[in-house]
Amino acid sequence: MSSVSEDLRQSVMSQAQGALLLNLAYIGVVDGLFSALAKLGQATPDALAAAAQKDGAYVLRWCDGAYAFGLLDESAPGEFSLTELGSAFRPEAAGTLMPFAVQAVLSAHMAERAAGLMATGDRPGEQVLAERETVLPWFGPMLEHNFGPLLERDILAAVPVYRQVDERGGLVIDLGCGNGWYLRRLASRFPHVRGLGLDGFAENIEQAERIAAQDGLAERLRFDTGNIYDFHVDEAVDLIAMNRALHHVWSDKEKVFRILHGQLKSGGTAVIWEPHWPSDRAALREPGRRGMAFQNLSEHVQGNHFLHPDEIVAEFEQVGMQAQVYLFADGREAVVSAVRTD
Ligand SMILES: C[S@@+](CC[C@H](N)C(=O)[O-])C[C@H]1O[C@@H](n2cnc3c(N)ncnc32)[C@H](O)[C@@H]1O
Repeated sequence: MSSVSEDLRQSVMSQAQGALLLNLAYIGVVDGLFSALAKLGQATPDALAAAAQKDGAYVLRWCDGAYAFGLLDESAPGEFSLTELGSAFRPEAAGTLMPFAVQAVLSAHMAERAAGLMATGDRPGEQVLAERETVLPWFGPMLEHNFGPLLERDILAAVPVYRQVDERGGLVIDLGCGNGWYLRRLASRFPHVRGLGLDGFAENIEQAERIAAQDGLAERLRFDTGNIYDFHVDEAVDLIAMNRALHHVWSDKEKVFRILHGQLKSGGTAVIWEPHWPSDRAALREPGRRGMAFQNLSEHVQGNHFLHPDEIVAEFEQVGMQAQVYLFADGREAVVSAVRTD
């Protein structure tokens, strides 16, 4: 058999270096090194370690790596500063590249778990996300930066229900709310909306409460740790949202749709936002959809799989709700909205 071509080797090597760059960027994000260096302007590794409250020997090694991959420049002998690339990974940078770094390390973790689990078929569930303790706190911010702009730019304008709920001072529930970004953004845009977010991870709820308080939204937004399958509120609800959460509870979808229908007031709306798993496998080769194909393997480890919007529409019909599908981001994202009419 002919040996691997040099072109192929070079091409894979450059992709492997891209992965290393993201690994180094991840450390810079999680340990606050990019942010601390931005404040200092330029610094020795020791001064950077002191500012970020990290170990000097680790920071020195990280600086060498980050310098090698163009995240840092040596702006004076022994002193480093951020390059444009390094600066773009700061979590506070407008349009930050941070989500790529978090996704890369989370994906490596999920690949390692999938590789080990494939022999038995075991699917350990949601807690796999929490196995890497530095990743979990960044999961919410990653999703927020990836999808917050789409909500504000496209979805709020296209789906009319939000404004109607605002006019009524209505209650919005977010099931599987993560770090609460969706309710925060709704409450910032619509001054009369009240919200309650529920999530299974206490870490997410602590983050949601902390940021809502910082943003001055604590009076209108509440967050609770709990299980979607046990969800109940006494007040009849105007809007129930689930963002990237329905596929996590699809194994008992009948129960979930009974809860959605039962908790909504007559005239209330459920708005489900999910990645749009394409019917045509060839679509997965599109650069914008490849990540989704990898992610569906990582969803499998967690006991889930991505959905086609028609599957969601069919479940709404089972509980007597007529659904409407909206597609966004060149069809990669689907929002399915349905009103309770009985
Ligand atoms: C992919 S994340 C999406 C988070 C958030 N909605 C967003 O868009 O950023 C799915 C969320 O659903 C939560 N979740 C999954 N199953 C759940 C359950 N049975 N009860 C409560 N939360 C659950 C997870 O903890 C996780 O935060």
